[in-house]
Amino acid sequence: MISPADYPLWNSPAMSAYLKEVSPETMLAEGRGVRVRDAGGRWFLDARSGLWNVTLGYDHPGVKEAIKRQLDTLPYANLIGYGRPSALSLTAAGALLPHLPGHLSKIRYCGNGSQAVETAVLLSRFLHRAEGAPEREAVFGMWRGFHGLGAGAGALTGIPYLHHQAGPLLPGVAHAPGPFESHGDGGTEDLRLAMADYGPERISAVVVEPVVGEGVHVLTEDYLRSLAGFCRSNGIHLIIDEVTTGMGRTGAFTRTGQLGLRPDLLTLGKGLTSGYAPLSAVVLSAEFYQRLHQLPLERQLFVGSTHDGHPLALAASLAVVEALTTEGVLDNVRERGRELEQRLNDVVKRHPSATAVRGTGLMYAIEVDRPDLLRHAMEARGVLVSTLARWPAIVIIPPLVISADEVEEITLVLDQALGELPGLAG
Ligand SMILES: Cc1ncc(COP(=O)(O)O)c(C=O)c1O
Repeated sequence: MISPADYPLWNSPAMSAYLKEVSPETMLAEGRGVRVRDAGGRWFLDARSGLWNVTLGYDHPGVKEAIKRQLDTLPYANLIGYGRPSALSLTAAGALLPHLPGHLSKIRYCGNGSQAVETAVLLSRFLHRAEGAPEREAVFGMWRGFHGLGAGAGALTGIPYLHHQAGPLLPGVAHAPGPFESHGDGGTEDLRLAMADYGPERISAVVVEPVVGEGVHVLTEDYLRSLAGFCRSNGIHLIIDEVTTGMGRTGAFTRTGQLGLRPDLLTLGKGLTSGYAPLSAVVLSAEFYQRLHQLPLERQLFVGSTHDGHPLALAASLAVVEALTTEGVLDNVRERGRELEQRLNDVVKRHPSATAVRGTGLMYAIEVDRPDLLRHAMEARGVLVSTLARWPAIVIIPPLVISADEVEEITLVLDQALGELPGLAG
């Protein structure tokens, strides 16, 4: 062990619990398939897909080859200035769009998920303002919803600690409970009621994840449809944040497409490049785009960053689309997802310390009072899992290419770890 004081790195102090665990030997050095090796030589099955993003595992030949080719051809072009974006940006967007819900028509690439969410919010406010409704400033999110960190996305993320630590963050953001919070009345309408109370005519947009990552709460089709209906009838833009759920995680390109929803804006990130390079996207509905397009050229929103739509990342994303469409990845998510869910339920039944299993596709939460202890116990047995900021659960969110044997391995290790920690419920 070396003391964090001796590292040449600074990481967020919120991660200090993790930093305390780090030693030079535990740092990661190599990845193959769904496994990673640390510098000390130990291999782990990565049941957390990096940070929920390494969807195709660590050595997908098509993605690696695409990045190498692009490196030799054109390693950089800028998306935001001087009218000379990479030709690849057109190819990549053209390849992705047919797999997204049909009412969506334009893709704007950004650098990371937080930036995509912020861009969507700014676009929403901008359009309302340009259309003569500057009073529509408020943006609603759900408590516990995660939309990123930083001054804009962090304000939208429904974790109060983030708002207080270095605020004020983006003004005009409000939160309401999601349907999974226990607050007596069944709770299914709280976000809608909060918006109705606030005054819908003052609201620009609402941002929701279709599966709330913080606890893996799968929002029902009915809930999302009624939210969408409320937004539509009140002129509020619906932004669906698919940074985690998009690009195959739930067994389809998007959860939105699976449920037949029609948001005004949709965000993608993480799996867009399988984590091989940073990339995210805001996708605009045809209607939203038309309304923007009607504005004079000098009144368009000026937003972006140097590395938006970086060619190496676009090359990776094109290869990811190819992999999802030709390599049976989505079928694998559905089949392995069913097996994983079944096995997790069987394991949890045997251990009273685990109180619930929830999820869909290849994304599951297992509730326990001391998720940190369970994470350590699984790690000691060679399986990496996630824990969450505030919800008492571990999250199993493996690469989408996981095999049936690897699903079995994860659940065996969970079973053993829970058996070793019978007092986990406290
Ligand atoms: C749903 C969702 N939106 C946005 C983000 C932010 O993405 P990034 O970390 O790439 O900024 C995340 C990251 O975990 C996320 O899960």
